[in-house]
Amino acid sequence: MAKRIITTDETEEDLRLDPKLRPQTLDQYIGQEKAKTSLKIYIEAARKRGEPLDHVLFYGPPGLGKTTLAGIIANEMGVNLKVTSGPAIEKPGEIAAVLNSLNEGDVLFVDEIHRLNRQVEEVLYPAMEDYAIDIMIGKGAAARSIRLDLPPFTLIGATTRAGLLTAPLRDRFGVIHHLEYYTTQELKTIVMRSASVLGVDIDDKGAEAIARRSRGTPRLANRLLKRTRDIAQVMYDGAITEEVAGKALDFLDVDRRGLDNIDRMILTTMIEKFAGRPVGISNLAAAIGEDAGTLEDVYEPYLIKNGFLMRTPSGRVVTDLAYQHLGITKPSQED
Ligand code: ADE
Repeated sequence: MAKRIITTDETEEDLRLDPKLRPQTLDQYIGQEKAKTSLKIYIEAARKRGEPLDHVLFYGPPGLGKTTLAGIIANEMGVNLKVTSGPAIEKPGEIAAVLNSLNEGDVLFVDEIHRLNRQVEEVLYPAMEDYAIDIMIGKGAAARSIRLDLPPFTLIGATTRAGLLTAPLRDRFGVIHHLEYYTTQELKTIVMRSASVLGVDIDDKGAEAIARRSRGTPRLANRLLKRTRDIAQVMYDGAITEEVAGKALDFLDVDRRGLDNIDRMILTTMIEKFAGRPVGISNLAAAIGEDAGTLEDVYEPYLIKNGFLMRTPSGRVVTDLAYQHLGITKPSQED
């Protein structure tokens, strides 16, 4: 068991999710088989040597379990987990204070690590490499730096955009894993597990209906399960069947391919405002009133993975499948 969870940043949604729904061990964790198999080996090896696990970087779209895996790693190593995020740490002194508060072997989880500023990042280099921080004292000609030793620890970084990480930071992670979207079967197992933890009455087909419409993302699957439970309780007899799940998901504006209002707005805008022609990400973001980064990290990967949208050298384009799904006739080439 992780001894303690210290949160320095309350914004991470995963941590606000019902803690009972979070798997505590790698064996309870469903999906991400490749990451799980490797982590099991590295954790066992580190434990046998009596050393902390090497620093780990998780990257991939939001909601795929980066925070959950950090919690599991701390748990399996039997150490504390301290959580913070890139935007929460503004000054070198702040990261120095966090590092200085760690106990031997602890896990420090830094969410959105690509958003750390350069000066803060530079404190991390010697911390990760030599378990030490260099503190400047004095000013001008009298300035000198003193080295403060830290206990050995594990840094776990999470990012939706590995490409934005600087090379010196990326190079200091010994273990790097890309987290993948979950299959419908994996999500169905997660929904069944969560339903059993929450005491929700759900059948096989009901769980599958929720899984199919959860965009490959456990965080969304668990959220839809909870909202479907509310609707089942108030409008039906409480049990989640395929029919009840279908009605609830329609009510929640999640369509049969798991697209929500914003996904559909993105595709419709590309077809109607940009006439289905290639469009740049910032133009598209401005047209729908979304931040370009959010569009790129949160919405686009799922639309691309499922064949609704393509990235081409001249910009983003909608596919025939998008026209079909939205029930819009694609103008013929001559038009
Ligand atoms: N709840 C959220 N993500 C999960 C996962 N990957 N396995 C089991 N339960 C989960």
